[in-house]
Amino acid sequence: MKELKNKNCFITGAASGIGRSFAFSLAKQGMNLFIVDINKEGLEQVKKDIEKTGTIIHSMKCDVSKLNDIENAAKSFYSKLGDVDLLINNAGIGRSVNIANMNLKNWKKVFEVNLWSVIYSLKVFLPHMLERKSGHIVNVASGAGLFGSSEPLSYITSKFAVVGLSEGIFSLLKPYGINVSVITPALIRTNIFHSGLKSDGYNPRMLKDYGKEKLDEVYGSILDNLMSVAMSSDVAVRKYIRQIKKDQLYIFDSQGTKDIISLKGSNMKEYEEFLLNYQDMHDEGTKKHFQKYGINIEDYR
Ligand SMILES: NC(=O)c1ccc[n+]([C@@H]2O[C@H](COP(=O)([O-])OP(=O)(O)OC[C@H]3O[C@@H](n4cnc5c(N)ncnc54)[C@H](O)[C@@H]3O)[C@@H](O)[C@H]2O)c1
Repeated sequence: MKELKNKNCFITGAASGIGRSFAFSLAKQGMNLFIVDINKEGLEQVKKDIEKTGTIIHSMKCDVSKLNDIENAAKSFYSKLGDVDLLINNAGIGRSVNIANMNLKNWKKVFEVNLWSVIYSLKVFLPHMLERKSGHIVNVASGAGLFGSSEPLSYITSKFAVVGLSEGIFSLLKPYGINVSVITPALIRTNIFHSGLKSDGYNPRMLKDYGKEKLDEVYGSILDNLMSVAMSSDVAVRKYIRQIKKDQLYIFDSQGTKDIISLKGSNMKEYEEFLLNYQDMHDEGTKKHFQKYGINIEDYR
């Protein structure tokens, strides 16, 4: 997709983070936008701010984990903008999962938002793209969809599925003139970490022993540390758009992710060691952080 000016774009999860940055960047490049999110208030603010620049932009509250919502949004998209040139399936959530006590409701929710939303979006938008023999589908997966990192297990699994789905449709759709890209962000400064934390709640025993205020402080400082080394979503999205314009299947924002998958392809033993060390490093960092606040996290595993 080399030329973006005057083309139409549908973005999910555009009220915040990467989706929001996509909306601002693509507006600057002259695209007409249709943005959706479950967070109506945040979405309206983005629409209002972008509208000031003269961009044609429409918004609609939509829960991407519901087929009906996506169907309604697509109907409105077609009536307002016409054909979809760029479809960005970006909305996603992360929820931590306790491996010893797997919360299946949590797993289902993560799959509905991170994976089923992409399947629904394809079901709704693809027939029209196939008919026109054009369009570009961009799925926002994660580095955690390429290697089993220290992210929540349900999140990793859902993102591996999005990567697999994207690879599968890449070659299937090419003959129809439809391009597919999958974005694999490393660490971007957005709200996903904060909302994930809030939705999970704290370890009940730890909460009883230390209280909410103290745990808010500990987790707040863990997040601050994490965010201090994260990339800004505007910078990341500029990188993504450059690669979308080259019709690349895989889109990266970090050399580190590329190095890891090349290790996976070249030396499986070393890759296994890397996975083990990565987890150890993460666990050790978390343990030390809690220790600073006088909490021995080992007592709560
Ligand atoms: N931030 C990172 O470091 C990072 C890393 C890898 C992958 N990602 C992926 O990037 C994408 C965007 O996340 P972000 O980091 O910008 O997070 P974010 O929380 O800032 O933005 C996600 C947006 O999705 C929306 N959303 C959540 N559930 C929804 C639903 N059911 N229906 C509609 N909208 C919904 C949220 O309201 C929010 O506006 C996600 O798919 C995420 O998994 C992010």
